[in-house]
Order: sequence, then C-alpha cells, then structure tokens
Amino acid sequence: MGERKVLVKVPASTANLGPGFDTLGMALNLFAWIEMSMSEQTRIHLHGDQLKGVTDTKSNLVYQVAREVFTAAGEAPPELEITMYSDIPLARGLGSSATAIIGGMVAANALIGNKLSKDELFQLSSRLEKHPDNVGASLFGGIVVAYWDGNRAEYIRIEPDPRLEVLAVIPEFHLETEKARGVLPKQVSMSDAVFNVSHSSLLVVALSTGNLRMIRHAMQDKLHQPYRSSLIPGMDAILREAADYGALGVALSGAGPTLLALVEAGSGHKEALARFMSETLNRNGIASRTLWLKPCPDGAQVLTQGSENSTLFENIEGEIRA
Ligand code: HSE
Repeated sequence: MGERKVLVKVPASTANLGPGFDTLGMALNLFAWIEMSMSEQTRIHLHGDQLKGVTDTKSNLVYQVAREVFTAAGEAPPELEITMYSDIPLARGLGSSATAIIGGMVAANALIGNKLSKDELFQLSSRLEKHPDNVGASLFGGIVVAYWDGNRAEYIRIEPDPRLEVLAVIPEFHLETEKARGVLPKQVSMSDAVFNVSHSSLLVVALSTGNLRMIRHAMQDKLHQPYRSSLIPGMDAILREAADYGALGVALSGAGPTLLALVEAGSGHKEALARFMSETLNRNGIASRTLWLKPCPDGAQVLTQGSENSTLFENIEGEIRA
C-alpha cells in the first residue's frame, strides 16, 4: 500500500509503589517496541521470548486499541500490519498490558497525524484499564500521581529523583491482575483507609522533594499487599526486612508477583539486597530473576525510523536486552 510506517518505544511501569493503590505509577527503563502501518490485510508479527503465547489474531490488544483510536478520531479502522518486540515479562506486575495499550494507541494516533491529544489517549486508556497508574506512567514517563473516577482521569507527573535505582525481583510464575484483584476485600476499615491516605501522601512528597530517607516509612500499605501476600510466598518477609538490607523502600510491583525495591544509586548494599530478596523467595519454593532498572523519565515516543524499508530489528538494535 506504500503507507507510512511508525515505530513507537514504550516503557514498562510499576504501579502502586506500596500505598498508592491504583494511584501511583512509575515508568521503568525496560521497553516494548511497536511498529505499525496501514495495510491491505491485517498481519501481526510478535518477536521475543516475552511475547510467547500472545495472540497474533485480531483479538491482539495492540490491534484492538488501535481500532479504538481510529474510531475515536472519526476514522474508519483500517487493516494494519503490526510488528512488536518486548523485553517486558507478561503478567508479572510490570505493566505489560498497559504498554500494549499505550504503544498501540500512540502508534495508531501517529498514523493519523496525532488527531487525538495525549489527554484523550490518557482518558481512553484509563477507561480501558479501569485504573490510570500503569497507563499514565507508560504514556507520560516519570512518576505519575493519578485518579480515575469512572468518568475522567487526572494526573500530575513528578520528575524521578536521579539518585533512584530500582531492583525488580521477578518470580518465574505468572499472576493475572484479575486474580490478584479478586483477593481484595470489598470494604476496608476507616483506620486502614487513613493509614494509606497518610502514607501515600507522605510518599508523594518524599519522592517530589528528594527526601529519600522518608521512603521506607512512607512505602507501607494496608489496602492490597496484606491480602495479596498469600499469592506470593516469602513476600511478607521481604516487605518487612528489605530496608535492613539497604532498600530505601520495598513494595509489590502492581498486582505482582514482582517485588520492587528502591535503592540509592551508588549504594554498597545492592548485591546483598538482591541476594536477600531472591533467596527469601527461593526458600519459599519460588524461583526468580533480578533486574536492575532505573525510573524512565520519558513516556511512549514515536521514533524516527532509519528508513521506510528498515526492519524493526535494524531500528532497535543495540537497545534490546535479549
Ligand atoms: N493498581 C493495579 C493493581 C495495578 O494493583 O491491581 C495492576 O494493574
């Protein structure tokens, strides 16, 4: 068809950061890339170990959200050629579905000359996910404080402190968000709600003013982690003790099962902390791998391609982890 091809790079994210359930998100420097062009027939090509098992039919999430963007912009959804590569593990609490949603939306929107604003993409994606934390971080980058009230999403972005590093300890098993939300109670006590309001508020101020010492006190939660801990054996001990091994703070990443510690760059405790976290899971029969990451200041970006004929891999060579 000779249509334009766009390439989008979109960051993974961690949600909640402990007390900010469905509210706080942080983009991470672990990425997925989506290439998209209009075509005569829909074809979806998926690459990389992390996309094994993902459908390449028209039920693919990237294709589905692209259709939503065309429709919202008043355009008839075209057939699409989509190529995707991802370094983000699926169903581990690192926002893989949010990256598919944001990557697909940003790519489709670029194909039609950015008819929708970023805010419109944020509204569309929050409506789809029903919480704005992962999609907000993948779209805007940095740390995002947001709400979704069932109608509109609003957010403020915080620049991540350059001293922050992130240790992700990723269990080998998958945990679907639906299952991890299914163990949460319908109602909580006033004292638990107050606990989270105060801790989440303190955490937001600690992160925006660079008060790293306060993070370990602020990064405590009573709304979701206590209920989810039965799904991740060893998690309670990690949440209780990681600060003693040099973490600035520790939390379940999103709906889990990944556990995430914030660490000060240059800390001499990095190896001991990683060992403590993975050995604790191991003692509970859970194999895991550790990844050292950084907060990613940028949200999804449309990259300039080498040439119209270059392949996805030629364009992202040197950036992928595999
Ligand atoms: N805030 C969400 C949760 C993130 O914890 O369930 C997972 O999508």
